[in-house]
Amino acid sequence: MRRYAVFGSPIAHSLSPFIHAAFARQTGIALEYVAIEAGHGDFAEKLAASGVDGANVTLPLKEDAFALCRSTSARAQRAGAVNTLLHEGDGWRGDNTDGLGLVRDLTERHGLDLRDRRVLLLGAGGAARGVAPALLDAGIHSLYIANRTAERADALADALGDPARVHPRGWDALSDLGEFDLLVNATAATRTGALPVLPMALVAPRSVAVDLNYGASAVAFLAWARAAGCAQALDGLGMLVEQAAESFSLWHGVRPETDAVYAALRARVETSPAAGD
Ligand code: ATR
Repeated sequence: MRRYAVFGSPIAHSLSPFIHAAFARQTGIALEYVAIEAGHGDFAEKLAASGVDGANVTLPLKEDAFALCRSTSARAQRAGAVNTLLHEGDGWRGDNTDGLGLVRDLTERHGLDLRDRRVLLLGAGGAARGVAPALLDAGIHSLYIANRTAERADALADALGDPARVHPRGWDALSDLGEFDLLVNATAATRTGALPVLPMALVAPRSVAVDLNYGASAVAFLAWARAAGCAQALDGLGMLVEQAAESFSLWHGVRPETDAVYAALRARVETSPAAGD
């Protein structure tokens, strides 16, 4: 039986084993998928010892995974991060399905047209880097990147290499930016502490807000988005299932249906909001 795993820390509440088991049942592919706790210090060793045929990588290891790959896809290079590992000889090829996962969730599940939209990306860490290239590829009009540490927003903008559309800003500039069609929370603020104050003026009645987190970590931003009057406030569960489907299809050559798995996950997260990817 082929064996797969997700590596990260903390990993105990990962939903990925549940998602991949559901895809395996649906497609009739025999596989085992487990969660393996690993940090910066022991990831490479645990990956080698696991004997897996492929792996997902989550917080805080996406940059570590990028560094250990023999080759990487163009989208992983643009993100500077890897969430999917595929065997290449006796080494690994790295890919990144996070950005595609977000765009698929927004456009296919939620019916949004991203073309020509004004987008605000809150955060400039690993999560923001993972999704920014795919948002640009989806044809958005402009991407404002606001980060507490302005230099990190500048660095991400430089890496994206699209100065006509990408505008880095410090957090203190948020009140001068006007209204956005789409607001994406890619900060770790709601996982690690409190969400900083966000100006309501960022929101118009047509605005859609999405938090890349879900469960308890998404509550604060989504509550703000609803209070500010967003038309829709979405969590990151749909992105999670879509990035998993893309990883599954890279490994197995079959694209699973995601709607039933998404519905099952939604029920699971509502009863156990501490779940993680
Ligand atoms: P991740 O992989 O989850 O993106 P990360 O690379 O450590 O983790 O990035 C965390 C992001 O959340 C950064 O954009 C960080 O801002 P800084 O670059 O200024 O550190 C942001 N963040 C974390 N805590 C925050 C807080 N309390 N307020 C605002 N932004 C915060």
